Amino acid sequence: MEFTLAITGASGSIYAQRTLMHMAASGVVERINLIMSKAAVTVAKVELGVDLTKPERGTLNRWIGLPPDSRLIQLHRLDNIAARPSSGSHPQEGMVIVPCSMGTLGAIASGAGTNLIHRAADVTLKENRRLVLVPRETPYNAIHLENMLRLSRAGAHIIPASPGFYHRPQTIEALVDHLVFRILDHLGVPHSGATQWRGVKESTGELISATED
Ligand SMILES: Cc1cc2nc3c(=O)[nH]c(=O)nc-3n(C[C@H](O)[C@H](O)[C@H](O)COP(=O)(O)O)c2cc1C
Repeated sequence: MEFTLAITGASGSIYAQRTLMHMAASGVVERINLIMSKAAVTVAKVELGVDLTKPERGTLNRWIGLPPDSRLIQLHRLDNIAARPSSGSHPQEGMVIVPCSMGTLGAIASGAGTNLIHRAADVTLKENRRLVLVPRETPYNAIHLENMLRLSRAGAHIIPASPGFYHRPQTIEALVDHLVFRILDHLGVPHSGATQWRGVKESTGELISATED
């Protein structure tokens, strides 16, 4: 499987990092075309203390826990509108933008994109491939909401970065991963996490686990 993963300047760089990690761990993803906006680099520095300005292959691989010489991730420059993801004739399963800023969301919703992230998303929609958007902003204004509705009607999967708590996460990673597994569900990528709701026991109100099913 091949996907494009774009990181933009919304808060939540850790969602991108852990989506990359779990895609790599799936064993079925052979290539990830990675694109980062300038704001994504700024936010990753603020939130994770990582410097992704012109990253070497080794830096990127280390960031997501891959061997230094792994070629799973192919980084494309934001202004390289001739890169593979810019063409529908390049076969791939789909694209995820995680986290997705309101700026990028608006550019895609308007169809007036100017960079490789916008173009690749536009191509994904026109080719009827899976486009997963993970918007993050609070509160949403009417423009944000209308853009999301527009994109949903065009076929995009809108998965806001609003994590659940019913699995009782004990760490930030567990909180983040619950959302990441939902992203992978929508991309059709297998993962290690149980995200299926199995109900609660009537007697105790406790969650029914996968092993009790
Ligand atoms: C620390 C930080 C956090 C931000 N958080 C958000 C956010 O959660 N959502 C959002 O839409 N924009 C957020 N922004 C603003 C975007 O980065 C900004 O609008 C940028 O132009 C988006 O560009 P891009 O879509 O090309 O990444 C944040 C900026 C900074 C510096």
